[in-house]
Amino acid sequence: MNVRSPESSPLLGHCPPSLPAKAYYDGAWFDRESMAIWARNWVYAGRIDAFRPRTIRRIDIAGDNVIVACDDNNALRAYFNTCRHRGAELCSAHQQDYNGRLIRCPYHAWAYDNEGALVSTGYATPTHDFDKALHGLFPVALHQWNGCVFLCLADTPPPFEPDMGVAALDNWPMDRLVTGHILEKQLACNWKVFWENYNECLHCPGIHKGLSDMVPIYRKGIMSDEEDADWSADQGHNAALKDDARSWTVNGQACGPEFPDLTPRERAIAHNFVTIYPSTYIVAHVDYVRIVSMTPLAPEITQLRAEWLFLPETLAQAGFDLANVTDFATTVLLEDGAACEMNQRGLKSSRFEQGRLMPQEFDIHAFHKWVLNQLEPWQ
Ligand code: FES
Ligand SMILES: [Fe+2]
Repeated sequence: MNVRSPESSPLLGHCPPSLPAKAYYDGAWFDRESMAIWARNWVYAGRIDAFRPRTIRRIDIAGDNVIVACDDNNALRAYFNTCRHRGAELCSAHQQDYNGRLIRCPYHAWAYDNEGALVSTGYATPTHDFDKALHGLFPVALHQWNGCVFLCLADTPPPFEPDMGVAALDNWPMDRLVTGHILEKQLACNWKVFWENYNECLHCPGIHKGLSDMVPIYRKGIMSDEEDADWSADQGHNAALKDDARSWTVNGQACGPEFPDLTPRERAIAHNFVTIYPSTYIVAHVDYVRIVSMTPLAPEITQLRAEWLFLPETLAQAGFDLANVTDFATTVLLEDGAACEMNQRGLKSSRFEQGRLMPQEFDIHAFHKWVLNQLEPWQ
């Protein structure tokens, strides 16, 4: 769900078609998306503190895989996971240690420095026609932002341009936050089904009872005041959460000190959604932040991951009740996951060819246009 604040209604003036059914299960369509979308855009690889000095982590993206090496100085560099000798994997485990200086191939011991330059051919002595300088590792673009690591497989990555929702994250202490809880779940749905569900709240009254109680406007099936036919800009904005609630927690209270630098408007928003297609969205609350990311494993299988981030002093509070925080959004995510799987099963019907979007589904329409635009050069 995205929140926005244009002065005029964002509702669509028509009911456009959805994507064709095969976009959600066809193998050829999935392969085209892997190449045109997942291999060409910035994909979330994790929080910076998940990369430990002197380790190499392997990360799968778009059917390829990448190693991220973290040296003694916490500097991160990413390479395709293939040796220039005969192509062996440099890292076969999820994570492995190295000495912080040389990335060594486990097959015949070719070694590369942290810049990816080939420095040793192990036990083999090449003849003069072999130029070491031409046999460095293949680099992968790496971008650090707000304590997060993003990778892009493209030779020429696009600009890193998250959709910042209502408020940029500038006033959230993103670099200081640490991961307090992780939820991982495999969903039996196409990755786009999950994004579509994220991009509308028509399902909220029926699917999310607890969330709709917490966020009154969701009871109307809309995401923001601007979508409400009765709202005009001169009325100002309604409080995002129900009376006395401060955050998305089971008891509605902030789980620790509120982030000190937020503006009154940022506090009132209560849940600022930042969207980074195709892999990630971030929900920034007044007291904690949640990062939700997805990895398509197959046309109808998507790996979902959610991370809850806190100030260290919040986690260190005596008697800190982590479940009071994590249970709330876990319930929402599991409700969404079940809805997505229900959607996936139904759109496999032999009679279903294509859906129709409602005016409130303007963000889904924008998402579809983004997907088709990305695929266009590859049709
Ligand atoms: S394949 Fe890597 S050293 Fe031979
Ligand atoms: Fe939802």
